[in-house]
Amino acid sequence: MNIGQALALRGESESYERQENSWLLEHFLNLSGLELKFRQAQELTVEQEQQYLIALARIAAGEPLAYVLGSQPFWTLDLKVTSDTLVPRPDTEILVETVLALDLPQAANVVDLGTGTGAIALSLASERPDWSVTATDIYAPTLAVAQENAVKHGLHQVKFACGVWYAALEPQKFDLIVSNPPYIDADDEHMAKLAAEPERALVAAKQGLADIEIIIQQGRDWLNPQGWIALEHGYDQAMVVQQIFQQAGFQQIRTVKDYGGNDRVTLAQYV
Ligand SMILES: C[S@@+](CC[C@H](N)C(=O)[O-])C[C@H]1O[C@@H](n2cnc3c(N)ncnc32)[C@H](O)[C@@H]1O
Repeated sequence: MNIGQALALRGESESYERQENSWLLEHFLNLSGLELKFRQAQELTVEQEQQYLIALARIAAGEPLAYVLGSQPFWTLDLKVTSDTLVPRPDTEILVETVLALDLPQAANVVDLGTGTGAIALSLASERPDWSVTATDIYAPTLAVAQENAVKHGLHQVKFACGVWYAALEPQKFDLIVSNPPYIDADDEHMAKLAAEPERALVAAKQGLADIEIIIQQGRDWLNPQGWIALEHGYDQAMVVQQIFQQAGFQQIRTVKDYGGNDRVTLAQYV
């Protein structure tokens, strides 16, 4: 099979499936997109053909492309992903962008609760080398992937802690608590499409709000005066997340939309 035939195995020309085929072939043949385009007659080796067909079968079985490739770009970083981690989503970059725009101390103390691949914590650490950044997760194998990503990008200053939300941490105060916690209701129809990713990364009790409540309500005890909490949440949860912040005594509450125009991030300051 040559590259042209391999590309044509799945999807219409110009379709997203064809683009995925192209990314897979670039990965297995170690070629750029441009090289792939101009080498359509090049034959795949037996091993490359096998790897490619197995990858197509995994995608057909519902695995995200990032699991098959083993990595996913996020912010300016290429992050290792495994089936122990959520695949970082482009919309989460809104959370990174939003907190980078806050007026925080030069050497701010920051924690990313439920770090997954380390996407948020490592992006912040890469942009603000003077910040003291801690990344936590409930699941040790997930945290190990985040640690690998820190090493891969030379972000050796980031600290890691395993445990349930704030229980993972040594006593201290933060200038910023940031999190993309699980926020989907177990019965949500979208869960069917997310079956390949760990349920612990996605689902929360109380219509998806249980973890958000914990992070906000307990967060007051972990913040410096004027400290912020910034959270990603579901497109339809902004109003209730704002209420939780309000009831917990936070001020400057506001919601930011994602690239698709949906409410996605709510943040507030504890004065
Ligand atoms: C939605 S994922 C977000 C991952 C990553 N921050 C990102 O944005 O791509 C939520 C993460 O929270 C972790 N998590 C779930 N419950 C937790 C808990 N009770 N305490 C700490 N981490 C938790 C999961 O293991 C998962 O990595």
